[in-house]
Amino acid sequence: MNSVTGESITNTTTDASYSLHAHMYSFFTGFLYMIGGSFQNRFRRDRFTEFLPIKADERILDICCANGKGTNVLASFAKDCKVTGIDIDPKMIIFAIKNSRKVSNVNFRIADCTNMPFPANTFNIVNSFLALHEIPNELVPIVLNEIKRTLKKDGLLLIFELKLPKKSSLDILNLRYYLFRLFEDENAARFMMTDQVKLVEKSGFNLVKSKEFHFGLTSVRLYKVNK
Ligand SMILES: C[S@@+](CC[C@H](N)C(=O)[O-])C[C@H]1O[C@@H](n2cnc3c(N)ncnc32)[C@H](O)[C@@H]1O
Repeated sequence: MNSVTGESITNTTTDASYSLHAHMYSFFTGFLYMIGGSFQNRFRRDRFTEFLPIKADERILDICCANGKGTNVLASFAKDCKVTGIDIDPKMIIFAIKNSRKVSNVNFRIADCTNMPFPANTFNIVNSFLALHEIPNELVPIVLNEIKRTLKKDGLLLIFELKLPKKSSLDILNLRYYLFRLFEDENAARFMMTDQVKLVEKSGFNLVKSKEFHFGLTSVRLYKVNK
């Protein structure tokens, strides 16, 4: 059953620009889905299969779920589990609900991942797909703390993120970085250059498995919470 709950939002990043962003995001990702959606869904599904040991009746959280298309892939992969998608932008959540009419084990909620409306020890798995680079750099440790709080003991955190490829001698001008900056902002670029494993482990997680994709520009990493 799909529902919108959690109306009170206090995060300062909630403003009109996010609603415009929701429409533009849905327009462009809708277009990208038309031409490459099945590749993208396949990539997500293959990574879930490769990284996530899912058991029946688990609770899974997808943070910064945007229009929910990725959350739906996760829900159909984990069909015996209950999947919750959260996003700070109410318009995104409306799109997510529309996009998930045929998916029965998913629900969506307007929520800020720096202050999540869930009790401690709620989820078995948290999925963060292209989410952390969108969060202001100084708030990322707060988000990781919230994930740690809401994960059960031995809970898993799966992170798909952008990263800077390892420098090679051919890359003295750092061209790949400047190419990336054409599409993403300074906050994302700073996140990309951070030692992400160190950052996540410092917040109370242990790296379990890690793999690079897309010529080293992305990584999928699975962590286990340390509690
Ligand atoms: C790049 S999209 C995420 C893509 C999505 N996870 C996917 O799998 O396709 C980033 C999303 O993060 C959301 N967001 C930004 N700050 C947030 C916050 N503090 N709490 C929850 N969502 C947030 C934005 O509204 C936006 O929808």
